Amino acid sequence: MILTVTPNLAMDITYRLDELKVGATNRVRRVDARAGGKGVNVARVLRSLGADALVTGLVGGATGRAAVDELDRAGIAHQLTPIAGETRKTVTCMSEVDGDATIINEPGPAVTEREWDDLCTRVRDLAVAADIVVLSGSLPPGAPVDGYVQLVELAAAQGIPALLDSSGGALAEGLAARPAIVKPNLTELTALTGESDPAVAARTVRQRFGCAVVASLGSAGLLADTDEGVFLARPPEVVRGNPIGAGDACVAAVASGIAEHSLWRQRIAHAVALSAAAVRCPLAGDVDLDYYRAHREHITVEVTP
Ligand SMILES: Nc1ncnc2c1ncn2[C@@H]1O[C@H](COP(=O)(O)OP(=O)(O)OP(=O)(O)O)[C@@H](O)[C@H]1O
Ligand SMILES: [Mg+2]
Repeated sequence: MILTVTPNLAMDITYRLDELKVGATNRVRRVDARAGGKGVNVARVLRSLGADALVTGLVGGATGRAAVDELDRAGIAHQLTPIAGETRKTVTCMSEVDGDATIINEPGPAVTEREWDDLCTRVRDLAVAADIVVLSGSLPPGAPVDGYVQLVELAAAQGIPALLDSSGGALAEGLAARPAIVKPNLTELTALTGESDPAVAARTVRQRFGCAVVASLGSAGLLADTDEGVFLARPPEVVRGNPIGAGDACVAAVASGIAEHSLWRQRIAHAVALSAAAVRCPLAGDVDLDYYRAHREHITVEVTP
């Protein structure tokens, strides 16, 4: 089982409109509302693949109930921890004319020390049965800055590897606990190291924190610095579509590769194909499975020992 932890879970609202105009009244063509936050997206992708995924995180209020209902409707297994605050909403405005996405993210409700401790207990209890624990996204206001250190250590104490996909202080702090894998994008990798060359930056992070580094480089693909070598894989083509959530699909492929004990080379090939399949879908958490299956065995992976 793959346990995904989303401390700052959300209800994701996607508005599709012809063209987003700032300072004007915009009419929406279509609205989609679903549970989100990066760990939820990862679990949704895993469920499409038929993998066993379980979602945990913090939820509260009417929006939290709506998120739980949607998870139930989607058949995504969850064991969430209640909080007094109201779960946040995120709004994505997809402009059809240029394909641009404008994103408005609420910060999320403040959580208390007690609520954070409850989440830690939940993760400790669920991690026992997990092959890997995926820690995704931002930490909510009120959570300790070393929140991901605590969660990585809870998993490690039970011999379970953790994959960390976050940004800013939560990522920089969390690395101190030496997760097994980290998945920064290029911006996150540069912010971490001050180094713009992804290969140099990935090596720096691996040497400093002892973790496998899967650096996602947008449409340029993936660079992975691992104990099996350094791998570079490009997407089958540059896909025009919605790149939001492509990183989550990449994480889903890597996590399922860990659960299946596959080799890094194959994990990376599958991750590139699956994240391109995610770009083809307008909603984060969806993947074009036919596209994934058609391409996953035909990805060229460059290897540096
Ligand atoms: N236009 C594209 N065409 C094909 N593949 C893409 C494209 N954009 C991204 N990808 C694939 O998706 C992977 C993840 O993308 P990216 O680096 O943008 O992740 P991210 O910034 O973490 O995304 P998010 O956090 O929104 O999920 C890339 O490594 C690449 O393999
Ligand atoms: Mg990302």
